[in-house]
Amino acid sequence: MSDATEYNGYVLDPESPTEMARLISLDRFMTQGMGGPLSGVDNPSSIHKVLDMACGPGGWVLDVAFERPDIEVTGVDISKIMTDYAAARAKTQRLSNASFKIMDITQPLAFADGTFDLVNARFLFSVLLQEQWPIFIAECTRLLRPGGVLRLTELMDGGATNSPAKEQLHGFFCQALQRVRHGFSVNGRNIGVTIMLPRILRKAGYKDVQHFMYAQEVSADTENYAMFYRNSEITYQLAKPLFINTGATNEEEFDQLYKQMLIELGSQEFTGMWHYMTAVGIKPLP
Ligand SMILES: C[S@@+](CC[C@H](N)C(=O)[O-])C[C@H]1O[C@@H](n2cnc3c(N)ncnc32)[C@H](O)[C@@H]1O
Repeated sequence: MSDATEYNGYVLDPESPTEMARLISLDRFMTQGMGGPLSGVDNPSSIHKVLDMACGPGGWVLDVAFERPDIEVTGVDISKIMTDYAAARAKTQRLSNASFKIMDITQPLAFADGTFDLVNARFLFSVLLQEQWPIFIAECTRLLRPGGVLRLTELMDGGATNSPAKEQLHGFFCQALQRVRHGFSVNGRNIGVTIMLPRILRKAGYKDVQHFMYAQEVSADTENYAMFYRNSEITYQLAKPLFINTGATNEEEFDQLYKQMLIELGSQEFTGMWHYMTAVGIKPLP
């Protein structure tokens, strides 16, 4: 990855059990914070077939399947460990309306045109390269029936906090992402995807494009604190090769900042907010 132009893929290891554990707890936190898995979707009773792109361990798919037994929900992901886990949970929860398949969302997917009423995706900033976004949106459009809904949720930042070490590491993370062409940052100081989403949808012909902002507190004296602490601990450790290989920082500086971050996040004085956005649009009728 030392030559950023050669890099082409997901920034973390999709087969890592630690990454899977991180995604499971993050999913619970976010779906609760958003008020349910279909928040932002007008007229949810018109939805019968749903696809979740890069579904991870399947929390979102299972929530939809549980809440709406009349809906058939499919999750696709490139990872075997994630889809196996998700399918096992569907089985133990007796959710026969949820299924999971291994697929690469950067390629055309094996579903017929117009199959779905809703296509959902969350956190694709770490999956798609900048130039892959329009191709991905075109594939979602192909898979949606006219009048179908595309719903995309992305991080604004990795949590704005009062921890100087965490903020510095996050800065390096944004620089590293920019160097491997993930996100749309113009200066490496942010991820830059949320500012693009509504325009990307309108440019692709979507109508009634809306966006919804979310802010969830993760300070030391809140119930979300443990999740946030673990999320930061795991994300930065798993992303360490990305930091080093892109030259955003070096190993010595990374290790020192990582240790300092854990001390600062462990303080009773720690405060932070987790910001993200959902954009929703309707595929026009012919
Ligand atoms: C940041 S996670 C998001 C997971 C899930 N959407 C969520 O919100 O919890 C990214 C997921 O993308 C998957 N992934 C990475 N590259 C992929 C690809 N090319 N096609 C399909 N899934 C991919 C990973 O296995 C991982 O489960």
